[in-house]
Amino acid sequence: MKPASRLSLLKPSPIRAITDGTPQGAIPLGLGEPTWDLPEVGRRALLRAPGPCAYVPHVGLLDLRKAVAAFHGAHVDEVLITTGSQGALFSLFQAWVDPGTKVLVPDPGFVAYPALALMAGAEPVPYRLSADRFRLDADELIRVLEATPDVSVVILNLPSNPTGGGGSLEALKRVADACVARGVLLISDEVYRDLHFGTRCPSLRDVTDRGVVTSSVSKGWGAPGLRVGWAVGDPAWLLPARTVHGYAVTGTATPAQWAALALIEHSDTVLAEARAAVGARWEALAGALREELGQTVAPPDGTFYHFMALPEAAHADPVAFCLKLRDEAKVVLIPGLAFGEGGRRHARLSFAATPEQLREGVKRLAPYWKN
Ligand SMILES: Cc1ncc(COP(=O)(O)O)c(C=O)c1O
Repeated sequence: MKPASRLSLLKPSPIRAITDGTPQGAIPLGLGEPTWDLPEVGRRALLRAPGPCAYVPHVGLLDLRKAVAAFHGAHVDEVLITTGSQGALFSLFQAWVDPGTKVLVPDPGFVAYPALALMAGAEPVPYRLSADRFRLDADELIRVLEATPDVSVVILNLPSNPTGGGGSLEALKRVADACVARGVLLISDEVYRDLHFGTRCPSLRDVTDRGVVTSSVSKGWGAPGLRVGWAVGDPAWLLPARTVHGYAVTGTATPAQWAALALIEHSDTVLAEARAAVGARWEALAGALREELGQTVAPPDGTFYHFMALPEAAHADPVAFCLKLRDEAKVVLIPGLAFGEGGRRHARLSFAATPEQLREGVKRLAPYWKN
């Protein structure tokens, strides 16, 4: 027996090459998840879920949809609850990406985008981010869009995993207008938007209602294990995705939806506390980089990722360099190349780790940058 041929298109991720086989005692700065506790309101709601533990409507609990709609300034009919934002992305791709079409993905960008395009039978076409700080570059994206026939979907991610770069309202508007003019579905992955350092990145909903926003409680609300996410957009875009999601998983776990509701109802405090936790970690990282490496770095536009420039000697084989860091220095960083060719000269350092881990991690890394 052989797995379905569509899977043969998926290459093993270099992330696994780094994280599988992590030696004991290594400091995990490759993580893509919060390390602080689930906020208490969410924990209590998990235990309080009322009545029988029944199936819920495929589209999600009405109260949760109302809360998500209010958070995004949308109508309740514009909200589909999914199993994490990954469930939203998978369902939207299966619903709107025809085999043989092209999907425009950021480079560097979240590894799932090209994989989801390939699983839908499409070809991922990379567009580069700006050279300064890896932000959305509207000129470049529109150039790639105009040069590419048969585009079904364009995906944005502000602020970006892995770079932390955002983009301006004007850039977002130009891209949205170009996609509307081409009749292409624009999906804006805003899962990190509330983890910012003073200024929140613009949302696609600030410039158009003709596109779909995806997000979840996984990052800002600190609850990736709940697996609760959503898509927000025109019900006409959501309906086919809802069919896919329904057949794939029926719906998102009911207790998890109640917990997500409690977290969103307490967004003001939960998100402020998360930003404080991330801010303290950023201070620890920035201080360590200054002391150990003499580097002065600005915080990202959002996320808990520092896209760290690699020493020149590592550019030819950044995966080997990161494996050496893992096995000798015992610090796990993800090579930027894992996120696309545009990330070759950088590595993703997650500062979701504790301040102590960050200080010790940078101390261990320093000799590899100095020599
Ligand atoms: C950019 C981005 N989008 C989406 C996801 C999926 O997250 P979730 O399914 O937990 O919402 C992740 C997870 O790391 C991510 O980094």
